[in-house]
Amino acid sequence: MIAEMTTYYEHIPVMLNETTEALVTDADGIYIDGTLGGGGHSERILSLLSEKGQLYGIDQDDEALEAAGERLNHDPRFYPIKGNFGYLSTLLPPQIHGQVAGILLDLGVSTHQIKEGERGFSFQEDGPLDMRMGNLSGVTAYQVVNEYDYEPLKNLIFHYGEERASREIAKEIIAARPIETTGDLAKVIRSMVPERFAVKTLARVFQAIRIEVNRELKMLEEVLVQSLDLLKPGGRIVVLSYHSLEDRIVKHFFRSGNLEGKIEKDFYGNPLSPINALNKQVITPSKEEVNNNPAARSAKMRVAEKVAEDN
Ligand SMILES: C[S@@+](CC[C@H](N)C(=O)[O-])C[C@H]1O[C@@H](n2cnc3c(N)ncnc32)[C@H](O)[C@@H]1O
Repeated sequence: MIAEMTTYYEHIPVMLNETTEALVTDADGIYIDGTLGGGGHSERILSLLSEKGQLYGIDQDDEALEAAGERLNHDPRFYPIKGNFGYLSTLLPPQIHGQVAGILLDLGVSTHQIKEGERGFSFQEDGPLDMRMGNLSGVTAYQVVNEYDYEPLKNLIFHYGEERASREIAKEIIAARPIETTGDLAKVIRSMVPERFAVKTLARVFQAIRIEVNRELKMLEEVLVQSLDLLKPGGRIVVLSYHSLEDRIVKHFFRSGNLEGKIEKDFYGNPLSPINALNKQVITPSKEEVNNNPAARSAKMRVAEKVAEDN
């Protein structure tokens, strides 16, 4: 309940004009915001739709749904749904499958989730080792930090955090167990890296644990594959990602329509893909936006369109 919350820290929507202008091509269309958050992008999408348009807003986080609901629930064109976008097809009513004009994914965590120490996402706030965006299932950060064996712990720090000192960090974490809070984990990591590298290392390790806890890359892969069935021909998908692991998955998928990034060809050697990337180069926020909202600094936007049937 929102009444039990301290504040819903306002999340400034990233690349608001760029994303929504690329997304909305039909004011009467059906749209999906797969990462509703505080509802910033959704509010803009609704402002671009006619009375006939519809917007389904998905989030796995109760607090996000509450906050966005306060802003948007009065609008009869808005349908909030709680769930993980990795199960998008089953969350949406079957009659809109194949009818969707646009899907927006603004990946990662919101400012609210980061700032609220209790959620355990931040190395700047002390809180329980949690990091779950939704409360449905899966491991908590506590389990990853305190129960994972050396190999999987080292691997996730290396792969999901892209942290070269993954071996040393995994050993140090295991030696320091039990680690109770985000503050304790931050202390362990700070004790082993020079102060000038501390923030970057902490950011990488916390990112790695968050990706593991929420199975973020797997869920992204799932939603991309499902988007092909949900979109109508000519429908668009716009993704804002915040680190290279996500961006790589999106780039490969938008190029080929499959997760391997393998471009199928017809008998004559012409490329066959159910989806077309509309921007070959990634689109990034303006300097002005980054100055006003540092959280936007690593954003990368990609847009693709489902190929029309007669192509
Ligand atoms: C960056 S925020 C989105 C902010 C939003 N665009 C706005 O303008 O307020 C990402 C949101 O997506 C949600 N989220 C992340 N991964 C998700 C997933 N797999 N399924 C459902 N929601 C997810 C998070 O809970 C968070 O609220």
